[in-house]
Amino acid sequence: MKKVLTYGTYDLLHYGHFRLLKRAKEFGDYLIVGISTDEFNLIKGKKCVQPFAHRAEIIKSIRYVDEVIPENSWDQKIDDIIKHKVDVFIMGNDWKGKFDFLKEYCEVVYLERTPEISTTILKDHINSKKNGKENIKT
Ligand code: CTP
Repeated sequence: MKKVLTYGTYDLLHYGHFRLLKRAKEFGDYLIVGISTDEFNLIKGKKCVQPFAHRAEIIKSIRYVDEVIPENSWDQKIDDIIKHKVDVFIMGNDWKGKFDFLKEYCEVVYLERTPEISTTILKDHINSKKNGKENIKT
């Protein structure tokens, strides 16, 4: 069985997230998604609308996803790859080159991000509606 691992925050789930997970699953038979915990998000400078438990449950229910694990820190990736016997590590190409050090342990793939959508864009859109503005900020 070929195992694939990816990480992310996955707040306010959107089309770009689904597309990333669908393409990631196509690299193997079993997809593990590391979901950033609320504490780790604060370290990354992100504040989620939805708590970790909710984001994890939503991602687990997606048909491409076989297992969800918590992402608690920057430096757990090597341990996760070894523990879960991961064959392919996948991230969006906003991270291109940043995880090349993992090539010692498994294949590393960066997938193209889906253009013109992100959690930040959705949050900006909701905020601009609240403020009576019409346009989506990109
Ligand atoms: N992703 C993608 N295409 C997008 C948005 C995200 O392929 N348009 C991918 C990211 O590259 C990452 C995964 O989805 O591998 C989870 O990304 P996450 O950071 O949770 O989503 P964003 O929408 O980018 O969130 P933010 O705006 O808060 O950075």
